[in-house]
Amino acid sequence: MADQTDGKVTQAETAPVPPSAGGAKAAAESKEAAGKINKSRRRIVWACIWGYLGVNFLMFLRFFFPRALYEPNTIFTIGFPSDFSLGIDQRFLMTNRVWVVKEPDRLFVIFARCTHLGCTPEWKPSENKFKCPCHGSGYDSEGVNFEGPAPRPMDRAFVQLDPTGKVVVDSSRLYVDDPRAGVNHFNDPGAFLNV
Ligand code: FES
Repeated sequence: MADQTDGKVTQAETAPVPPSAGGAKAAAESKEAAGKINKSRRRIVWACIWGYLGVNFLMFLRFFFPRALYEPNTIFTIGFPSDFSLGIDQRFLMTNRVWVVKEPDRLFVIFARCTHLGCTPEWKPSENKFKCPCHGSGYDSEGVNFEGPAPRPMDRAFVQLDPTGKVVVDSSRLYVDDPRAGVNHFNDPGAFLNV
């Protein structure tokens, strides 16, 4: 049998130590834990891959749909002149962005767009004026500017009666009053209806 002499390693020290029962169990447990961790890692990696592919597939599908804005028809019927009482009617503000204004002798339609930078003003019945929330422009009940940075009155939309007597509005045809340019189309045919 080898002995430890002169600082040399003996045979007993270099011989493999047979695993004890406790050591084998610990090794098996650590192997099992490592297996679970690997499984979780694989799941995460696959989830990332499928997520990436899924997003790309959705982006691919998006190409088949037109990038168009669906806006309401600019030509629409608002009813008979007698359906409106004197003053400002807001029924078509949300759907068509216009106010219908009825006066004792005429009816016209204001396009609800501030002539400063294009915000939609609000009608303030208590103050009898339109007020733009963006930079404070004010317009009287006919849409004519009198305060704030707006350079001119709000535009008016084309109006005409159809064969049944209903009012048809075309908000793509606007009548402008611009004192700076010396033009005023508010009294042109189509800018209002006699009632
Ligand atoms: S957009 Fe209306 S005041 Fe500026």
